[in-house]
Amino acid sequence: MNESLVTVQALTRVFDVSKPWLNRVLAREKRQTLTAVDSVDFSIERGSTYALVGESGSGKSTIAKMLVGLLSPTSGRVHIDGVDLANASAADISSTRKRIHMIFQDPYASLNPRWRVRDIVGEPIDAFMNVSATERAKKVDELLEKVGLSTKDGAKFPHEFSGGQRQRIGIARALASDPEFIVCDEPTSALDVSVQAQVLNLMRDLQRDLGLTYLFITHDLAVVRYMADHVGVLYLGRLIESAPRQQLFDSPAHPYTQMLIDAAPRVDGFGRDHEAVDGEIPDPISPPSGCHFHPRCKQRIDQCNQQVPTVQHADDRSVSCLLHSQGLNL
Ligand SMILES: Nc1ncnc2c1ncn2[C@@H]1O[C@H](COP(=O)(O)OP(=O)(O)OP(=O)(O)O)[C@@H](O)[C@H]1O
Ligand SMILES: [Mg+2]
Repeated sequence: MNESLVTVQALTRVFDVSKPWLNRVLAREKRQTLTAVDSVDFSIERGSTYALVGESGSGKSTIAKMLVGLLSPTSGRVHIDGVDLANASAADISSTRKRIHMIFQDPYASLNPRWRVRDIVGEPIDAFMNVSATERAKKVDELLEKVGLSTKDGAKFPHEFSGGQRQRIGIARALASDPEFIVCDEPTSALDVSVQAQVLNLMRDLQRDLGLTYLFITHDLAVVRYMADHVGVLYLGRLIESAPRQQLFDSPAHPYTQMLIDAAPRVDGFGRDHEAVDGEIPDPISPPSGCHFHPRCKQRIDQCNQQVPTVQHADDRSVSCLLHSQGLNL
């Protein structure tokens, strides 16, 4: 087994979602909190892709932001290549940050429209690397070619490109500081199906050529099937199942994972919407007691509304469900 590059332990993020003080006092309401990420554990092997999947509001982007340092955890730990991001020295944190980059969902919103592409792609070089103007220009040209754009594109502005090309610019920028770990938050969900496949192929090629490690966030199981080595399933902030891709699809352990797989389109293809999954996602401010999934679960038993299932591990799989409380029962 390869060694882990990223390890997340009991990662938790609570948001204060109270009304402003005066409104709260007048309405005689207490402070309200929302646990967006609840004690999540996983690790990502070097050079592999870990996909996080879950419905809207399950906490995927909140985890992504904590990994790249855009948001601090309420509690829990993130280790990247052995560096504990909460307790390391400033120097260790900054040298670790240089090796992590993020690709966002919306290639329109994440590129500064007033900058030329060469400055967008070159920004991380300026921020993290001490190189001459000539070396910087050479590096930007190499990056543009690496992602399938031309060196002439460097002089253009983002609006001159299609959605898929803009995401290529985002990828070039993410690669600029020679990162090892890239957090991809729904990088292709705003793209047309055929363009999506091209960008996913590019990302796979880059991973192979550069030895990259990906955390790949998506709600699309077809994309998970195509990209992931290992998959984590989130439900209302909790990681309810984690397994190697093939095992997850062949023998899902958690009823929620089963439901997602049943609801996914049968025909292979990217970007299709799921058929409606059963039931509504509950309000995350007052989630159901016990197992958060129990009101939607077809296999629930009496204890499910009182008891929070503990995580059961077997080999490189884990599941939190009372049906597996004596160990993984597949
Ligand atoms: N800054 C914030 N303040 C308050 N609540 C927040 C904040 N950011 C996220 N949340 C809440 O945390 C929960 C998880 O949000 P998050 O954006 O991580 O979900 P997600 O899985 O990325 O969803 P999507 O698929 O829609 O992108 C949601 O209920 C969201 O409303
Ligand atoms: Mg999100």
